[in-house]
Amino acid sequence: MAEPLLEIHLERKTFGDTTVLQNVHLQLHPREVVSLLGPSGCGKSTLLRIVAGLEKDFEGTLHRAAGDVAFVFQEPRLMPWLTVEQNIGFSDDRHYDKAWVAQLIDEVGLSGFAQALPKALSGGMAQRVAIARGLYSRPQTLLLDEPFSAVDAFTRMKLQDLLLQLAEHHAIALLLVTHDVDEALYLSDRVLVMDNRPSSIRQTLQVELDHPRDRRDPQLARLKIEALTELHQAHII
Ligand SMILES: Nc1ncnc2c1ncn2[C@@H]1O[C@H](COP(=O)(O)OP(=O)(O)O)[C@@H](O)[C@H]1O
Ligand SMILES: [Mg+2]
Repeated sequence: MAEPLLEIHLERKTFGDTTVLQNVHLQLHPREVVSLLGPSGCGKSTLLRIVAGLEKDFEGTLHRAAGDVAFVFQEPRLMPWLTVEQNIGFSDDRHYDKAWVAQLIDEVGLSGFAQALPKALSGGMAQRVAIARGLYSRPQTLLLDEPFSAVDAFTRMKLQDLLLQLAEHHAIALLLVTHDVDEALYLSDRVLVMDNRPSSIRQTLQVELDHPRDRRDPQLARLKIEALTELHQAHII
């Protein structure tokens, strides 16, 4: 198998006297889609921030191959005074690549909205902009922290499909935090079920189904039972 894009051996992450994460070992390979599924407060966002290099205070080692990661947050975090186009390109620099931005706007389904301001966008559209902004720097890995939690169920399904198409087209890996079992199983090659604090990876579910997947696939339903059983046994639900 190819070299992993990233590998973390996290021995411990504490905030003050509280140990949030311990013994979390995780590898992400090129083009893999991996979800972290776990209860609120178990340290999912913290783990993603460590992987992103945003949080440097931890015990353990992080190896990231050359090639950038980009982050998509739960809220789109757009600059309200910048247009869609500027929001996507400006994080890079003032002289951003307009042709590349235009292509990304098309790919995320926002043709015609390049000059719109964020206030003119629905929540789902704003999150499309955030994804395009993540792709702008041509990362090898997109880290997503509950990216679709704030949108309605049908929009969410559309965004999930969009995300898979983009990951395929740009040949990137996804590491995604969610507390939605269906979302994790539908999107991922592997679902990592996390414990309550102090958290580690409790179980790994392999989802060996080709894409595009069918949400009604009985195999997904079977895996959901497995995931729910695990979450129940961990007293998470
Ligand atoms: N900067 C911080 N300072 C202190 N405690 C924090 C900080 N960030 C997160 N925590 C605590 O660490 C735990 C894990 O947080 P977080 O990673 O946000 O969990 P999750 O994303 O799984 O809901 C929580 O108990 C949270 O209160
Ligand atoms: Mg979180």
